[in-house]
Amino acid sequence: MTRKKFFAALAVTGLITGCATMMSDADISKKALLVMKSSFKEKGQAKLDRLDQDEVQATCSLYETPDKVPKDVAQRLEQSQLETIRYPADGQLLGNWKAGEVVAQSGVGKQYNDDPTRPSGGNCYACHQLSKQEVSFGTIGPSLLGFGKARGNTEESRKYAYGKVYNSDAFSACSNMPRFGHNGILTEQQIKDVVALMLDPESPVNK
Ligand code: HEC
Repeated sequence: MTRKKFFAALAVTGLITGCATMMSDADISKKALLVMKSSFKEKGQAKLDRLDQDEVQATCSLYETPDKVPKDVAQRLEQSQLETIRYPADGQLLGNWKAGEVVAQSGVGKQYNDDPTRPSGGNCYACHQLSKQEVSFGTIGPSLLGFGKARGNTEESRKYAYGKVYNSDAFSACSNMPRFGHNGILTEQQIKDVVALMLDPESPVNK
């Protein structure tokens, strides 16, 4: 459900008091945020600031789907997100694909009951097919099977893969893929490892 629809549903179910039909989308969003902030409880690492949208999220919430974002808006967002990408200082973009597979399989981290001192997973399989061996995968994102074979294990594709995982919005605004580096979900080493998973010829992605 998009945020807009969610807020609209809240309004219909009467959770937002007042005359919803007289309110603009912006007013509804503001009220819904207040309702959520007053009812959500902070727990562990899940703090209330998670309800605050940054510029990208606030802009993307104005459109129902990524393809409805006007071209000039999308370009502006992509440029601002490109500037957030920090490539590794040692210039090495390729880690260990076996460690990358562990990151891709793990959905642990960032929930209130996860230990914040332990590394988070990337949960890539929740949205992507990555290997023939793993039969359980989501399809929100495109299949990445054969990604390295198709793109080549070149400096250019390493840079794209690293940047895409670091901040997916830099390459397609309002993407449904998390911004793993930008939001501190994965470490530099973990991103290198998933880049290896995608590009290493020995990885199950390319077998
Ligand atoms: C919540 C769903 C979701 C998760 C989790 C997710 N992705 Fe994605 N990913 C997407 C979607 C949707 C797209 C297509 C839209 C776009 O390009 O942003 C995508 C696109 C990509 C692309 C670009 C593919 C291409 O052909 O250019 C790469 C590479 C990628 N994801 C890698 C990853 C990796 C690696 C992980 C785990 C660290 C991951 N994704 C986790 C949803 C997700």
